[in-house]
Amino acid sequence: MLKTSVLVSGGGTNLQALIDASARGKMQHVELSLVVSNRADAFALERAKRAGIRGEYVEKAGFEERLNALLDEEGIGLIVLAGFLRILSGDFTRRWAGRIINIHPSLIPSFCGAGYYGLRVHEAALARGVKVTGATVHFVNEIPDGGEIIAQRAVEVLPGDTPEVLQRRVMEQAEWIILPAAAEAVAERLEGRE
Ligand code: GRF
Repeated sequence: MLKTSVLVSGGGTNLQALIDASARGKMQHVELSLVVSNRADAFALERAKRAGIRGEYVEKAGFEERLNALLDEEGIGLIVLAGFLRILSGDFTRRWAGRIINIHPSLIPSFCGAGYYGLRVHEAALARGVKVTGATVHFVNEIPDGGEIIAQRAVEVLPGDTPEVLQRRVMEQAEWIILPAAAEAVAERLEGRE
């Protein structure tokens, strides 16, 4: 199994989807070993605790140095960004190239890049009047949401959708399904290479 770290900033529903998938035996090549948050109050840290996974809050000052130390300490081979709202430096993403994946709540290349995160993504989709949206898992590089696409899943936009209602549907019908599947596929491929 590939030791995996999940980086979080908020509620952690995508982390929970990974935890639940692991408990159901759906991620044979992924060992959830470390959760790191850049927000001390992230409920995702509580989810990690309840699942018996090491959870660490890392403050802003020296964030990447501390993060790299934790990742090395735990022997991490795969990093999953799950609702993580801090831009990682080019140095960091180059060091971990091919080993960082991210879940974004739209069908990239729509509604992505700088400034598109959380509810803002769904507000933009509704403002544009798209009939289909969804979620994307992609490799992370120095361009926000710019890395190679790994998986996507489409979700219908319904009349009367609010950003909150649409966000929830995208989470339930797309994010929570494709993130565990993508993490498992990438981990299996990376383990095969080692
Ligand atoms: C979700 O909209 C997700 O698509 C985005 O961050 C938001 C919160 O995710 N990546 P989570 O509940 O913290 O996993």
